[in-house]
Amino acid sequence: MAKSILVSNTLPKEALGLVPKEFTVDLHNTDHPLPKAELVARLKGKDGLICHIISAIDDEVLGASPNLKVVANVAVGYNNIDVAAARRRGIIVTNTPDVLTETTADFAWTLLMAAARRTVEADHYARSGEWKRWQWDLLWGMDVHGKTLGILGFGRIGRAVARRAGGFAMRVLYHDAVRADASLERELRATHVDQDTLLRESDFVTVHTPLLPETRHLIDAGALGKMKKTAILVNAARGPIVDEAALARALREGWIAGAGLDVFEEEPEIHPALLPLKNVVVAPHIASASHDTRLAMASLAVRNCVAVLEGKPPITPVP
Ligand code: GLV
Repeated sequence: MAKSILVSNTLPKEALGLVPKEFTVDLHNTDHPLPKAELVARLKGKDGLICHIISAIDDEVLGASPNLKVVANVAVGYNNIDVAAARRRGIIVTNTPDVLTETTADFAWTLLMAAARRTVEADHYARSGEWKRWQWDLLWGMDVHGKTLGILGFGRIGRAVARRAGGFAMRVLYHDAVRADASLERELRATHVDQDTLLRESDFVTVHTPLLPETRHLIDAGALGKMKKTAILVNAARGPIVDEAALARALREGWIAGAGLDVFEEEPEIHPALLPLKNVVVAPHIASASHDTRLAMASLAVRNCVAVLEGKPPITPVP
């Protein structure tokens, strides 16, 4: 029987073109999340759902259609989905790992470099008309090369971030509940340490853990207090991993030197105490937003959804 899919937000036509002709697609073609009641109503009778992280997929949503077989998230993180409830209902959840690893790692580095070398301040200054002459002590920043990089969370993205550190001759520390193979540690020249050692010894701390109950506010006032006064924090993972109020205080009071943030606790809100601070670089959750990668993510989500509805194994089910 022909299958029907709800696509709860914008998806590129190249990816939608991968849906077999005989399937029907109900596309909510905007970036606004469907209100829950509408999401539930439009999901009725559907076999598959393709969604973005802005849709909260809880047990009630999952129960909206007795036919629902698959929820394909267009993201690697899937904290927007109640995976345990999906499992109970026999619904497969998929995500989009791998295709965004390198692009996200590139962007973590973009934030790191921008915060270290004050690129955003420099841009504003150069455009402002204030730049009248060469100035010896203008916009001094931090060196990156030769420093210590601390990576919290050593999955695909954390490892890709580590790989790039080789080009900057950095010492790489990492912390993860699961230690990497010795051969990978050698290849990436990365040393496994406990979290406190990482916080105390790193010049740059970058967060690459999933958002889980145990990683919520992993970087809180206590953690920030352990970091070097010259250190820079980068978060391109999930906002609630960092306690934003504590971070704003740390940045204001000089506990640490700077931060680069792509994600926030209450997106699209940014904690008001962060906004006036010059030593924080902010971006609107765009770490995976390159043309190629966004297309690859959308295509993978569609392929996952179609595979399940055609009775095949999903390509990238969530673990
Ligand atoms: C983006 O935030 C993702 O999880 O892919």
